[in-house]
Amino acid sequence: MTAPDTTAAPESTDAPDEAALRQRATAALSTARDRTALLTSCVEDGELTAQHSPLMSPLVWDLAHIGNQEEQWLWRAVAGRAALRPEIDSMYDAFEHPRATRPTLPLLAPAEARAYAADVRDRVLGVLDGTRLEGRPLVESAFAFGMIAQHEQQHDETMLITHQLRTGPAALSAPPPPVAVDPPVASEVLVPGGPFTMGTSDEPWALDNERPAHTRIVPSFLIDTVPVSNGAYLAFMADGGYRDERWWDPAGWAQIREHGIEAPLFWRREGGGEWTRRRFGVTGAVDPDEPVLHVSWYEADAYARWAGRRLPTEEEWEKAARHDPAGGRSLRYPWGDAEPGPEHANLGQRHLAPAPVGSYPAGASPLGVRQLIGDVWEWTASDFLPYPGFRAFPYKEYSEVFFGPEHKVLRGGSFAVDPVACRGTFRNWDLPVRRQIFAGFRTARDAEPA
Ligand code: AVJ
Ligand code: FE
Repeated sequence: MTAPDTTAAPESTDAPDEAALRQRATAALSTARDRTALLTSCVEDGELTAQHSPLMSPLVWDLAHIGNQEEQWLWRAVAGRAALRPEIDSMYDAFEHPRATRPTLPLLAPAEARAYAADVRDRVLGVLDGTRLEGRPLVESAFAFGMIAQHEQQHDETMLITHQLRTGPAALSAPPPPVAVDPPVASEVLVPGGPFTMGTSDEPWALDNERPAHTRIVPSFLIDTVPVSNGAYLAFMADGGYRDERWWDPAGWAQIREHGIEAPLFWRREGGGEWTRRRFGVTGAVDPDEPVLHVSWYEADAYARWAGRRLPTEEEWEKAARHDPAGGRSLRYPWGDAEPGPEHANLGQRHLAPAPVGSYPAGASPLGVRQLIGDVWEWTASDFLPYPGFRAFPYKEYSEVFFGPEHKVLRGGSFAVDPVACRGTFRNWDLPVRRQIFAGFRTARDAEPA
């Protein structure tokens, strides 16, 4: 007989440590607020109330909407407190007022919007201090706090898109991404067929549409090692890609004809010269080594067809990003389970541009696929649909109302996305005509049968 083991770890080692969760939530909320402050203080107040594009809200709408969502979820729903400004809820409800009409609303003025968001935040930090982070799904693992930090960061990306659409002198600047290109050995990677785990059931701050974890059987396919570059895209353009109906989905063909589209958004060419692009108020040469940016799903789809390839499906993208053939397990990120660091991916608006293709070798997936996270959102072939077993949480208007064939899924995040809102399982979606978002793509093809 052996003696009973008295050295076993105490049962609490696996329980989430409330102090650590509080700290993580506080840090995520404060990182988001710092970025919001930067994006709304780098231009004059007059530019916050102006509408820079009918596709976007005035920046001051995003600012008060951020505060209002935080009030609704953390002050009212989590803490059970009375509404602070119930009369403004409808003005900041994205479903009641389409973006184009928001400038006509009696919006809070910039100083008022800042003070409102700051007041909500003050109260919410008190709530976070005094709330047990267990027992209710909304507060379990500080979920609602993480959700609100992600919400603010998503609007920070939206506001960065508004800055990109704005004309006039530059208001934002950042150092270029580090030049650390380590060219991959092969242009495509074979992902062997078989099952893998898609989605997640245990990532604490994963949003409803990423859940639950489930098995998908994915036939073998090949996927580009890196995103499609401007240089490769220029070859499609030079080959008359925008004038050849064969490559285009009929709706995409109609869009480019109607609007005279012949290049990515923000590109220009004077009299047959070289293409230039405008980025946050600065015009420069199109860099052939950067991933192509500001293309619609239709442009991505047409390029892929021209290249004799296709867009990857969403499940192919996630398998390429997360499947570890050695462990047979799905990783949180291509490089493993560690949180994104500056060596892994171009995230968080540290740089206001994508890095050249072949950068971030430390961010490669086990199979060697690069730059899946960060740099540019990647269009996939897939419609935005629920996973088997999906349950809307905590509200239908985050995901459920957008499910269906109108929206295409984007994966991986861009240079504008904060790590808190980026994971191997994270799903974004948009209309296939959209070009102002920070989106590019990579291509795939079926593997030859063995
Ligand atoms: C997930 C980026 C499509 O901006 O429309 C922000 C995120 N949802 N406020 C969007 C969102 C509610 C959403 N996307
Ligand atoms: Fe929102």
